[in-house]
Amino acid sequence: MTEDVERILVDEKELDEITTRLANQITQDYKNSTKPLILIVILKGSLNFASDLMRKIPLPLEIEFMKVSSYGAGTKNSGEIKIHLDLIREELEKYDLLIIEDIVDSGRTLARLTQLLKNRNANSVKTCTLLDKPSRREVEFTPDYCGKEIENEFVIGYGLDYDEKYRNLPYVGILKREIYS
Ligand code: PRP
Repeated sequence: MTEDVERILVDEKELDEITTRLANQITQDYKNSTKPLILIVILKGSLNFASDLMRKIPLPLEIEFMKVSSYGAGTKNSGEIKIHLDLIREELEKYDLLIIEDIVDSGRTLARLTQLLKNRNANSVKTCTLLDKPSRREVEFTPDYCGKEIENEFVIGYGLDYDEKYRNLPYVGILKREIYS
């Protein structure tokens, strides 16, 4: 598996530093909140990030999972998202929601998902992403918490996949071009 990696982009030490920094920010921002916090973990890519991040947030919190995909540009439903696994939660007005993502690319998924959860009357909806590719943005979207902005590289590992593989690499790496071209 490692022979398919061109180079390491975010190593284990930097991942640890990023999750510590973001967890500290989140803890400061939510410590006086009157509503319970729910981390909405977006499957599958954010699994590792969410797992490391939540263990560094010493606040009472709950976790839920969603799986969504965006239709992308140029399709009949572009601008919409498909929900493969939804929240089994009601009365969202009782909660602060923090969506946990591995990467923001076009911005479609998080822009739409944020709107959807606000429309369900959540007390608040914020977003936290490990990686952001601002050069790829197709809709206006800025995450509330961002681990690292990156160039338009094909990244894998630490939850991120190519063809469902490489999610178990302990770092974020750049995939060799010959693997996907
Ligand atoms: C990735 C990522 C985001 C989305 C970002 O998910 O986890 O959900 O794409 O892209 P966007 O900003 O262009 O909307 P993917 O569909 O690859 O699913 P996975 O996490 O299960 O691999």
